[in-house]
Amino acid sequence: LWNPTNIIKDSIDRIRDTVGSERVLLALSGGVDSAVVAALLHRAIGDQLTCVFVDNGLLRLHEAEQVMATFAQHMGIPVIKVDAQTQFLTALQGIADPEQKRKVIGNLFIQIFEEQAAQYSNSGGFLAQGTIYPDVIESAGAKTGKAHVIKSHHNVGGLPAQMQLQLIEPLRELFKDEVRKIGIELGLPHEMVYRHPFPGPGLGVRILGEVTPAYADILRQADAIFMEELHNHGWYDKVSQAFAVFLPVKSVGVMGDARHYNYVIALRAVETIDFMTAKWAPLPYELLETLSHRIINEVAGISRVVYDISGKPPATIEWE
Ligand code: XMP
Repeated sequence: LWNPTNIIKDSIDRIRDTVGSERVLLALSGGVDSAVVAALLHRAIGDQLTCVFVDNGLLRLHEAEQVMATFAQHMGIPVIKVDAQTQFLTALQGIADPEQKRKVIGNLFIQIFEEQAAQYSNSGGFLAQGTIYPDVIESAGAKTGKAHVIKSHHNVGGLPAQMQLQLIEPLRELFKDEVRKIGIELGLPHEMVYRHPFPGPGLGVRILGEVTPAYADILRQADAIFMEELHNHGWYDKVSQAFAVFLPVKSVGVMGDARHYNYVIALRAVETIDFMTAKWAPLPYELLETLSHRIINEVAGISRVVYDISGKPPATIEWE
């Protein structure tokens, strides 16, 4: 019988059986999936769990601080923060291909987790991940080599073969809405459970082509304005996912008497149940107008804002 209570009980039993007395390292992302995994694991195995949060330089504005506060405050789970911003941004230099970016980011994550794991246990142990069912389906081809690969989500397809930690993925059979119900049942705060999903590679796949620190800074500011106005207008909870995308193309604009030749921000907001298909969200014109006005005026380096009206299919939700 599917209900959150049974699923939780069942997962906790399975986690205890699988893990025994080994240590588990959780690849915490700040999103709902890994938060639910953290809560489940914390219930199942208590202090055998070590949570690590990696600041990869591809996070949203103030995200690292918020994640640390939320976990310590609401969940009483200690988190080790690793500042790897320079490492990630350096590794991404000169790489423009989306799949290659995912691989670089995914591999670096694993490398960092293994380094962390080595400090907490002498041999092996488990690496927990918040992989959910749609990730498994979309990445099926990356593992079997048979199905067509749409995107290798970094938490599935990007794992190096020689990984020393065993994987534990308690949400592997669940859809997003099921994960959320479990999160509520486990007592996670509403803002965390109903937070829009954020991909593992983060802004790395929202800056088209090569990622640079300057582009990431611009995107972070534009994205923060987008989130703020969605909340102000009561639209955050009406859409399933919303974000800004940085387009490294220049377009001409005029402000006051001056001609500008600057970059473009695309805004994307979608409505979906399972993230396998999605519709673009009909945000009110007045909200779009506020967004365009604020982003162009407040974010240096942007001269134009566009709204993405593509459905999935044929487009995907992310631009890369
Ligand atoms: P797409 O772009 O494939 O996105 O329509 C579907 C959902 O998956 C998220 N997404 C990712 N999540 N690693 C992740 O953990 C990734 O590489 C990745 N790519 C896309 C996307 O944000 C959306 O929620």
